[in-house]
Amino acid sequence: MALKIGVLITGRGSNLQSLIDAAADPDFPAEIVTVISNRAEAYGLKRAARAGVHHEVISHRSFKTSDAFEDAIDEALERAGVELVCLAGFMRILSKAFITKWKNRIVNIHPSLLPSFKGLHVHERVIEAGARISGCSVHFVRAEMDAGPVIIQAAVPVLLEDTPETLAERVLHWEHRIYPQAVRYIAEGRVRITGETVRITGAEAPASGFMSPEK
Ligand code: GRF
Repeated sequence: MALKIGVLITGRGSNLQSLIDAAADPDFPAEIVTVISNRAEAYGLKRAARAGVHHEVISHRSFKTSDAFEDAIDEALERAGVELVCLAGFMRILSKAFITKWKNRIVNIHPSLLPSFKGLHVHERVIEAGARISGCSVHFVRAEMDAGPVIIQAAVPVLLEDTPETLAERVLHWEHRIYPQAVRYIAEGRVRITGETVRITGAEAPASGFMSPEK
């Protein structure tokens, strides 16, 4: 039976789209049972509607406290029978209590090679720092922001002529590949966490790396 996932979004939802597209394959071992956005204008809601996926808006502005907002999200996830929560550009910080409840059942995608460049405005900061290689990470969520055991990473070169936008685009291409792949591993029951290390049964790292500049 397919693993039931709930996707939390705030905006564009291109990572949501990559999960929708992956789940459209009958062989994909997970299904999206609900999409929750904290913003009514999120374009990702249109993507969910187009795909016929259940979706709802739970706005943080409708609640007096962030606890009440999180309780509403938690209830919606439970109601939908969610087994794995996927954060996909969800721009609210979740409390320790929420994350503890969903421990090892909540994952996130971040557009850097964690643990480097946590937080916002990643691509600007990568370029400013003069890094030659960047990338993206799918990781289990822990209480500290953008921390937690990494499941998959992908690396891309940072080009001298890059702007934050061009770098974001190059990284995003890989985000869309690694997020469905990480969900697949989890849904197939192949993922084991020991401390900070994730082991995936039958998955292999590539035999060689890549460097930038190349020559
Ligand atoms: C992505 O770059 C993701 O890594 C970050 O926020 C962005 C969301 O983009 N957490 P989208 O809404 O999935 O298009």
